[in-house]
Amino acid sequence: MTATDPPPRTGHASEHRPPAFFIAGTDTEIGKTFVACALLHALRACGLRAVGMKPVAAGVEADGRNEDVARLAAASAFAAAADLVNPYCFRAAIAPHIAAAEEGRPIVPARIVDAFEALRAQAGAVLVEGVGGFRVPLGDDHDTADLAVALGLPVILVVGLRLGCINHALLTQEAIAARGLPLAGWVANRIDPEMARSAENIAALRARIAAPLLGVVEHGTTPEAAARQLTLPSGLAPAPSSAPVPPR
Ligand SMILES: Nc1ncnc2c1ncn2[C@@H]1O[C@H](COP(=O)(O)OP(=O)(O)OP(=O)(O)O)[C@@H](O)[C@H]1O
Ligand SMILES: [Mg+2]
Repeated sequence: MTATDPPPRTGHASEHRPPAFFIAGTDTEIGKTFVACALLHALRACGLRAVGMKPVAAGVEADGRNEDVARLAAASAFAAAADLVNPYCFRAAIAPHIAAAEEGRPIVPARIVDAFEALRAQAGAVLVEGVGGFRVPLGDDHDTADLAVALGLPVILVVGLRLGCINHALLTQEAIAARGLPLAGWVANRIDPEMARSAENIAALRARIAAPLLGVVEHGTTPEAAARQLTLPSGLAPAPSSAPVPPR
Protein backbone atom coordinates (compact mmCIF):
# COMPACT_ATOMS: atom_id res chain seq x y z
CA MET A 1 0.00 0.00 0.00
CA THR A 2 1.32 3.43 -0.83
CA ALA A 3 1.43 6.26 1.66
CA THR A 4 -1.43 7.98 -0.15
CA ASP A 5 -3.87 5.10 0.01
CA PRO A 6 -6.42 4.82 2.79
CA PRO A 7 -6.46 1.83 5.13
CA PRO A 8 -8.88 -1.01 4.36
CA ARG A 9 -12.49 0.00 4.81
CA THR A 10 -14.27 -1.34 7.85
CA GLY A 11 -17.77 -1.26 9.28
CA HIS A 12 -20.62 -1.04 6.82
CA ALA A 13 -18.51 -1.50 3.70
CA SER A 14 -16.92 -4.70 5.01
CA GLU A 15 -20.36 -6.34 5.24
CA HIS A 16 -20.48 -6.39 1.46
CA ARG A 17 -18.22 -8.14 -0.98
CA PRO A 18 -15.85 -5.70 -2.60
CA PRO A 19 -16.70 -4.87 -6.19
CA ALA A 20 -14.84 -6.83 -8.83
CA PHE A 21 -14.85 -6.87 -12.61
CA PHE A 22 -13.51 -9.07 -15.39
CA ILE A 23 -11.61 -7.03 -17.98
CA ALA A 24 -12.19 -8.54 -21.41
CA GLY A 25 -10.88 -7.26 -24.70
CA THR A 26 -11.75 -7.38 -28.36
CA ASP A 27 -8.35 -9.00 -29.03
CA THR A 28 -4.85 -9.34 -27.70
CA GLU A 29 -2.69 -6.18 -27.56
CA ILE A 30 -5.62 -3.76 -27.60
CA GLY A 31 -5.12 -2.18 -24.19
CA LYS A 32 -6.68 -4.45 -21.55
CA THR A 33 -3.76 -3.93 -19.19
CA PHE A 34 -3.53 -0.21 -20.01
CA VAL A 35 -7.24 0.35 -19.30
CA ALA A 36 -7.21 -1.95 -16.25
CA CYS A 37 -4.40 0.19 -14.83
CA ALA A 38 -6.40 3.34 -15.57
CA LEU A 39 -9.45 1.86 -13.83
CA LEU A 40 -7.32 0.87 -10.84
CA HIS A 41 -6.20 4.49 -10.54
CA ALA A 42 -9.82 5.66 -10.85
CA LEU A 43 -10.98 3.23 -8.15
CA ARG A 44 -8.14 4.32 -5.88
CA ALA A 45 -9.08 7.95 -6.44
CA CYS A 46 -12.48 7.00 -4.98
CA GLY A 47 -10.79 5.71 -1.87
CA LEU A 48 -11.02 2.04 -2.77
CA ARG A 49 -8.12 -0.27 -2.05
CA ALA A 50 -8.04 -1.61 -5.60
CA VAL A 51 -5.86 -4.43 -6.82
CA GLY A 52 -5.29 -5.99 -10.23
CA MET A 53 -5.17 -9.71 -10.96
CA LYS A 54 -3.78 -11.48 -14.04
CA PRO A 55 -4.74 -15.12 -13.49
CA VAL A 56 -3.03 -16.46 -16.59
CA ALA A 57 0.02 -14.79 -18.11
CA ALA A 58 2.20 -16.00 -20.97
CA GLY A 59 5.65 -14.57 -21.63
CA VAL A 60 8.32 -13.46 -19.18
CA GLU A 61 11.05 -10.82 -19.38
CA ALA A 62 14.74 -11.45 -18.72
CA ASP A 63 14.10 -10.86 -15.00
CA GLY A 64 11.49 -13.64 -14.98
CA ARG A 65 8.55 -11.28 -14.53
CA ASN A 66 5.52 -10.95 -16.77
CA GLU A 67 4.99 -7.40 -18.01
CA ASP A 68 1.21 -7.32 -17.44
CA VAL A 69 1.60 -8.59 -13.89
CA ALA A 70 4.21 -5.92 -13.19
CA ARG A 71 2.10 -3.12 -14.70
CA LEU A 72 -1.02 -4.15 -12.76
CA ALA A 73 1.02 -4.41 -9.56
CA ALA A 74 2.41 -0.92 -10.09
CA ALA A 75 -1.12 0.48 -10.46
CA SER A 76 -2.53 -1.42 -7.47
CA ALA A 77 -3.08 0.06 -4.04
CA PHE A 78 -1.08 -2.61 -2.26
CA ALA A 79 1.40 -5.38 -2.97
CA ALA A 80 -0.51 -8.64 -2.83
CA ALA A 81 1.05 -12.10 -2.78
CA ALA A 82 2.36 -13.05 -6.22
CA ASP A 83 0.58 -16.41 -6.30
CA LEU A 84 -2.77 -14.71 -5.68
CA VAL A 85 -2.24 -11.98 -8.28
CA ASN A 86 -0.89 -14.38 -10.89
CA PRO A 87 -1.51 -18.07 -10.22
CA TYR A 88 -0.28 -19.13 -13.67
CA CYS A 89 2.70 -17.65 -15.49
CA PHE A 90 4.14 -19.47 -18.49
CA ARG A 91 7.54 -18.71 -20.00
CA ALA A 92 6.62 -18.56 -23.68
CA ALA A 93 4.51 -15.73 -25.09
CA ILE A 94 2.19 -18.12 -26.89
CA ALA A 95 -1.43 -19.26 -26.61
CA PRO A 96 -1.83 -20.22 -22.95
CA HIS A 97 -3.31 -23.69 -23.48
CA ILE A 98 -0.31 -24.56 -25.64
CA ALA A 99 2.12 -23.08 -23.09
CA ALA A 100 0.38 -25.00 -20.31
CA ALA A 101 0.63 -28.27 -22.24
CA GLU A 102 4.28 -27.70 -23.12
CA GLU A 103 5.20 -26.95 -19.49
CA GLY A 104 3.04 -29.82 -18.20
CA ARG A 105 1.09 -27.44 -15.94
CA PRO A 106 -2.60 -27.60 -16.80
CA ILE A 107 -4.66 -24.54 -15.86
CA VAL A 108 -7.11 -25.51 -13.10
CA PRO A 109 -9.96 -22.96 -12.87
CA ALA A 110 -10.71 -23.80 -9.21
CA ARG A 111 -7.19 -22.71 -8.26
CA ILE A 112 -7.80 -19.34 -9.92
CA VAL A 113 -11.16 -18.93 -8.20
CA ASP A 114 -9.55 -19.67 -4.82
CA ALA A 115 -6.79 -17.12 -5.47
CA PHE A 116 -9.34 -14.54 -6.56
CA GLU A 117 -11.47 -15.00 -3.45
CA ALA A 118 -8.41 -14.72 -1.21
CA LEU A 119 -7.36 -11.56 -3.02
CA ARG A 120 -10.86 -10.09 -2.84
CA ALA A 121 -10.91 -10.68 0.92
CA GLN A 122 -7.88 -8.37 1.24
CA ALA A 123 -9.02 -5.70 -1.20
CA GLY A 124 -11.53 -2.91 -1.65
CA ALA A 125 -11.96 -3.72 -5.35
CA VAL A 126 -10.47 -6.27 -7.75
CA LEU A 127 -9.96 -6.07 -11.51
CA VAL A 128 -9.23 -9.38 -13.21
CA GLU A 129 -7.59 -9.08 -16.61
CA GLY A 130 -8.47 -11.82 -19.09
CA VAL A 131 -6.17 -13.34 -21.65
CA GLY A 132 -6.22 -12.10 -25.24
CA GLY A 133 -9.78 -12.10 -26.56
CA PHE A 134 -12.79 -13.49 -24.70
CA ARG A 135 -12.71 -17.07 -26.08
CA VAL A 136 -9.02 -17.84 -25.72
CA PRO A 137 -8.67 -21.52 -24.74
CA LEU A 138 -7.16 -22.27 -21.35
CA GLY A 139 -7.25 -26.05 -21.80
CA ASP A 140 -8.90 -28.79 -23.84
CA ASP A 141 -12.36 -28.12 -22.45
CA HIS A 142 -12.40 -24.60 -21.00
CA ASP A 143 -11.61 -21.07 -22.06
CA THR A 144 -11.39 -17.49 -20.81
CA ALA A 145 -15.15 -17.02 -20.98
CA ASP A 146 -15.61 -20.06 -18.72
CA LEU A 147 -13.18 -18.47 -16.29
CA ALA A 148 -15.25 -15.28 -16.18
CA VAL A 149 -18.31 -17.44 -15.43
CA ALA A 150 -16.47 -19.40 -12.73
CA LEU A 151 -15.46 -16.11 -11.12
CA GLY A 152 -19.05 -14.85 -11.47
CA LEU A 153 -17.97 -11.36 -12.45
CA PRO A 154 -19.56 -8.57 -14.45
CA VAL A 155 -17.47 -7.74 -17.48
CA ILE A 156 -15.89 -4.50 -18.65
CA LEU A 157 -15.07 -4.71 -22.35
CA VAL A 158 -12.07 -2.86 -23.72
CA VAL A 159 -12.50 -2.10 -27.40
CA GLY A 160 -9.24 -1.41 -29.19
CA LEU A 161 -10.23 1.20 -31.75
CA ARG A 162 -8.93 -0.06 -35.06
CA LEU A 163 -10.40 -1.33 -38.29
CA GLY A 164 -12.44 -4.46 -37.51
CA CYS A 165 -13.20 -3.54 -33.92
CA ILE A 166 -16.96 -3.21 -34.40
CA ASN A 167 -17.29 -6.83 -35.45
CA HIS A 168 -15.00 -8.00 -32.64
CA ALA A 169 -16.86 -5.93 -30.06
CA LEU A 170 -20.29 -7.17 -31.11
CA LEU A 171 -19.21 -10.80 -31.21
CA THR A 172 -17.73 -10.38 -27.75
CA GLN A 173 -20.90 -8.74 -26.49
CA GLU A 174 -22.86 -11.76 -27.75
CA ALA A 175 -20.47 -14.19 -26.08
CA ILE A 176 -20.75 -12.34 -22.76
CA ALA A 177 -24.56 -12.24 -22.94
CA ALA A 178 -24.75 -15.93 -23.94
CA ARG A 179 -23.08 -16.81 -20.65
CA GLY A 180 -25.47 -14.70 -18.60
CA LEU A 181 -22.76 -12.31 -17.47
CA PRO A 182 -23.63 -8.63 -17.07
CA LEU A 183 -21.72 -6.20 -19.24
CA ALA A 184 -21.02 -3.35 -16.81
CA GLY A 185 -19.61 -1.04 -19.43
CA TRP A 186 -17.09 -0.66 -22.21
CA VAL A 187 -14.08 1.51 -22.85
CA ALA A 188 -12.95 2.77 -26.25
CA ASN A 189 -9.17 2.75 -26.39
CA ARG A 190 -7.46 4.67 -29.18
CA ILE A 191 -4.87 1.99 -29.83
CA ASP A 192 -4.41 3.14 -33.44
CA PRO A 193 -3.82 6.90 -33.67
CA GLU A 194 -4.19 6.73 -37.46
CA MET A 195 -7.61 5.12 -37.43
CA ALA A 196 -9.96 6.66 -39.99
CA ARG A 197 -13.51 7.57 -38.92
CA SER A 198 -12.92 6.73 -35.28
CA ALA A 199 -15.82 8.95 -34.15
CA GLU A 200 -18.18 7.15 -36.52
CA ASN A 201 -16.91 3.81 -35.21
CA ILE A 202 -17.55 4.89 -31.62
CA ALA A 203 -21.03 6.06 -32.58
CA ALA A 204 -21.73 2.71 -34.25
CA LEU A 205 -20.57 0.90 -31.12
CA ARG A 206 -22.62 3.12 -28.81
CA ALA A 207 -25.72 2.34 -30.87
CA ARG A 208 -25.11 -1.40 -30.63
CA ILE A 209 -23.59 -2.10 -27.23
CA ALA A 210 -26.20 -2.40 -24.48
CA ALA A 211 -23.96 -1.04 -21.76
CA PRO A 212 -22.57 2.40 -20.95
CA LEU A 213 -19.46 3.81 -22.58
CA LEU A 214 -17.22 4.43 -19.58
CA GLY A 215 -14.90 6.67 -21.55
CA VAL A 216 -12.59 7.14 -24.49
CA VAL A 217 -8.89 6.69 -23.75
CA GLU A 218 -6.70 8.85 -25.96
CA HIS A 219 -3.63 7.46 -27.67
CA GLY A 220 -0.37 8.35 -25.98
CA THR A 221 -1.88 9.19 -22.61
CA THR A 222 -0.89 7.51 -19.36
CA PRO A 223 -3.06 5.23 -17.21
CA GLU A 224 -3.01 7.91 -14.50
CA ALA A 225 -4.31 10.58 -16.89
CA ALA A 226 -6.73 8.17 -18.55
CA ALA A 227 -8.26 7.48 -15.12
CA ARG A 228 -9.63 11.02 -15.15
CA GLN A 229 -11.34 10.35 -18.50
CA LEU A 230 -13.22 7.32 -17.23
CA THR A 231 -16.53 6.95 -15.45
CA LEU A 232 -16.71 3.97 -13.14
CA PRO A 233 -19.55 1.44 -13.59
CA SER A 234 -22.78 2.29 -11.81
CA GLY A 235 -22.80 1.48 -8.13
CA LEU A 236 -19.30 2.84 -7.68
CA ALA A 237 -18.58 6.45 -6.91
CA PRO A 238 -17.31 8.40 -9.92
CA ALA A 239 -13.69 9.38 -9.97
CA PRO A 240 -13.08 13.03 -9.07
CA SER A 241 -13.41 15.33 -12.09
CA SER A 242 -14.49 12.41 -14.25
CA ALA A 243 -16.95 13.02 -16.99
CA PRO A 244 -18.01 10.91 -19.94
CA VAL A 245 -15.92 11.88 -22.92
CA PRO A 246 -18.01 12.39 -26.03
CA PRO A 247 -16.72 10.72 -29.16
CA ARG A 248 -14.78 12.94 -31.51
N1 LIG B 1 -4.24 4.52 -25.24
C1 LIG B 1 -3.00 4.09 -25.48
N2 LIG B 1 -2.04 4.96 -25.87
C2 LIG B 1 -0.79 4.53 -26.11
N3 LIG B 1 -0.37 3.26 -25.98
C3 LIG B 1 -1.29 2.36 -25.59
C4 LIG B 1 -2.63 2.71 -25.32
N4 LIG B 1 -3.29 1.60 -24.96
C5 LIG B 1 -2.40 0.61 -24.99
N5 LIG B 1 -1.19 1.05 -25.38
C6 LIG B 1 0.03 0.25 -25.56
O1 LIG B 1 -0.29 -0.80 -26.47
C7 LIG B 1 0.34 -2.00 -26.07
C8 LIG B 1 -0.75 -3.06 -25.83
O2 LIG B 1 -1.53 -2.64 -24.72
P1 LIG B 1 -1.83 -3.64 -23.53
O3 LIG B 1 -0.58 -4.36 -23.13
O4 LIG B 1 -2.55 -2.90 -22.49
O5 LIG B 1 -2.79 -4.66 -24.31
P2 LIG B 1 -3.48 -6.00 -23.80
O6 LIG B 1 -4.81 -6.08 -24.46
O7 LIG B 1 -3.44 -6.03 -22.32
O8 LIG B 1 -2.51 -7.11 -24.39
P3 LIG B 1 -2.39 -8.66 -23.94
O9 LIG B 1 -3.40 -9.40 -24.76
O10 LIG B 1 -0.96 -9.01 -24.33
O11 LIG B 1 -2.64 -8.76 -22.47
C9 LIG B 1 1.17 -1.68 -24.83
O12 LIG B 1 2.48 -1.38 -25.21
C10 LIG B 1 0.46 -0.44 -24.27
O13 LIG B 1 1.33 0.40 -23.52
MG1 LIG C 1 -2.50 -7.36 -21.06
